[in-house]
Amino acid sequence: MKGLTGKRVLITGASSGIGAGMAKVLAREGCKLVLHFNRNEAGIEKTLKTVTEFGVEASILQCDFRQPETLNAFFQQAWSVFDGLDGLVNNAGVVSKTTALKDADGTQFMNTLAVNLQAPYLLSTAFAKACIAAKQGGAIVNNSSIHAQATCEWFSAYAASKAGLDAMSKVQAVEWGQHGIRVNVLAPGVVPVERTHTILSEPNMAKKWHEKIPAGRYGTTEEMGEATAYLLSDATAWMTGSVLTLDGGLIARGNYPSR
Ligand SMILES: NC(=O)c1ccc[n+]([C@@H]2O[C@H](COP(=O)([O-])OP(=O)(O)OC[C@H]3O[C@@H](n4cnc5c(N)ncnc54)[C@H](OP(=O)(O)O)[C@@H]3O)[C@@H](O)[C@H]2O)c1
Repeated sequence: MKGLTGKRVLITGASSGIGAGMAKVLAREGCKLVLHFNRNEAGIEKTLKTVTEFGVEASILQCDFRQPETLNAFFQQAWSVFDGLDGLVNNAGVVSKTTALKDADGTQFMNTLAVNLQAPYLLSTAFAKACIAAKQGGAIVNNSSIHAQATCEWFSAYAASKAGLDAMSKVQAVEWGQHGIRVNVLAPGVVPVERTHTILSEPNMAKKWHEKIPAGRYGTTEEMGEATAYLLSDATAWMTGSVLTLDGGLIARGNYPSR
């Protein structure tokens, strides 16, 4: 993809699922990668092995995003691996599901916001400051969700975090456009990952989802990687403040009865 070879990119949450798919595609495109994980050491080692098979340089870094005071040091470490970064992919996230009534003290709500919204805020801001100081541009991709656009029961914390991420991305795009820093959002629909493999491959569940999705199937982690590569590449040099939805048409279809 245009202008991606040699770009230095930090991907958060690269130890499984969509983040691992993004790492694979970006490695194929010749990016140098800093791969973040929190607890899944076996997963990040697997991602590292996959990307190095493409012959690119890569390094792994651990950080728990529920500890915001550690994020600046984490970012500085990530920046120093390749003496700078051209891209930041805020992918790490927790898909929390609970009713607000069961989370009355807001613990799950605050943890969800810490990982899904506060961490991207702090990392993106550190990235923008570093790019401006280095007199270079940069590209940020924030992995949001269709839950920012239309949601359902159990998702008040998750949907709020992702809607906040969409809104924040637009403001940052506006503020940082003058510095050549682009901020765009990826909004995936249903993408089976290790975490959801058992439930989504259950035949009844798969049938229900496939009927709801106009394209008739789930998305793949590599498709999310392709879209991320596009958003980081020079093909989207004039694109900023946008939300790219990849959901097989799920959101486009209203909740009307089937004909
Ligand atoms: N899969 C879908 O259908 C779907 C749809 C829309 C949006 N998304 C978004 O895609 C992103 C990736 O999710 P996924 O589905 O690929 O799930 P996943 O495989 O569970 O990946 C989540 C990643 O986030 C990291 N993470 C979780 N808690 C963290 C914390 N406290 N501090 C730092 N990192 C943490 C995990 O790291 P460790 O495992 O190493 O701890 C892991 O690498 C999320 O932002 C999610 O909201 C997913």
